[in-house]
Amino acid sequence: MAKENIPTHIAIIMDGNGRWAQEKNLPRLQGHLAGVNAVRRVTEYCQEFKIKYLTLYAFSRENWDRPKEEVEGLMSLFSKVIREEINELKKNRIRVRFLGKINELPPDVKKSALWIQEQTKNLEKLNLILAFNYSGRSEIIEAANKAIEMGKKITEETFRNFLFLPDVPDPDLFIRTSGELRISNFLLYQIAYTELFFTEELWPDFNKDQFMKAIRSYQKRERRFGTIQ
Ligand code: FPP
Repeated sequence: MAKENIPTHIAIIMDGNGRWAQEKNLPRLQGHLAGVNAVRRVTEYCQEFKIKYLTLYAFSRENWDRPKEEVEGLMSLFSKVIREEINELKKNRIRVRFLGKINELPPDVKKSALWIQEQTKNLEKLNLILAFNYSGRSEIIEAANKAIEMGKKITEETFRNFLFLPDVPDPDLFIRTSGELRISNFLLYQIAYTELFFTEELWPDFNKDQFMKAIRSYQKRERRFGTIQ
C-alpha cells in the first residue's frame, strides 16, 4: 500500500451487527458488543496509518425506533465503553468528540459523552468522532435556522460555520459495511466529494484486510472535485 495519499478523514457506517448476531443465533446486542471490538481494531489501524479523523455512525436519530430493549442496551453499552476506554484513549492520545444532539440523550449517557469530550479535549493524534443521535438532514436544517436567526445570508464558505463541527475537514473516504448501498442520512453536506467504498463484510467481521482494501481503492481514484484536470 502506498504510504503517500493516505486519507485524512475516514467516515464509516458500521452496519450489520444485528445480522452478524442473527447468523450465530445470538441476541442482537451481542452483535453490537462484537461491533465495539471492531471499533477498537479500526482505531488501531487509523493510528498505524496516521489518519487524523475517524467518524463513526454509532447511533442515528432513526435508531430510536428500534425495540426499547435494543435502544436501552445500546445506550448502556455506550456509557460503559466510554468509561472503560478512558485510559486506553489517553495512552494513545485519542480525542473523542460527539456529532449530534447530545442534549437529547438519557442523562447518564449525556454525562458520559460530555465527560469523555472534556477528558480528551487536548489529545491530538486521532480525532475519534462519534455520530450519536445524528441526522444529516437535521444538521443542515439547524445550520440554516442558526444563520436565519443571526440574520445572515449564507454562502458555501460561511455555511460550514453553522454545522456541528465546523473545524473538521470533509471525509476523504466513506466506508459502509454489510452490503447496503445507501448513505442513510449520514454527513449529507460533508460527503459532496467524498470517495465511497462499500463492502459486503458485516461490521463485527471488518478487519485490517478490508481496511487496507478500502484505502487502496481510494488511492487508485482520481479526485477531480468537479474539475477536469
Ligand atoms: C448497525 O448495525 C449498528 C448500529 C446501529 C450500532 C453501532 C454501534 C456499535 C458498533 C457500537 C459502537 C460503540 C462505540 C462506543 C462507538 P445494525 O444493528 O443495523 O445491523 P443490521 O442491519 O444487521 O440489523
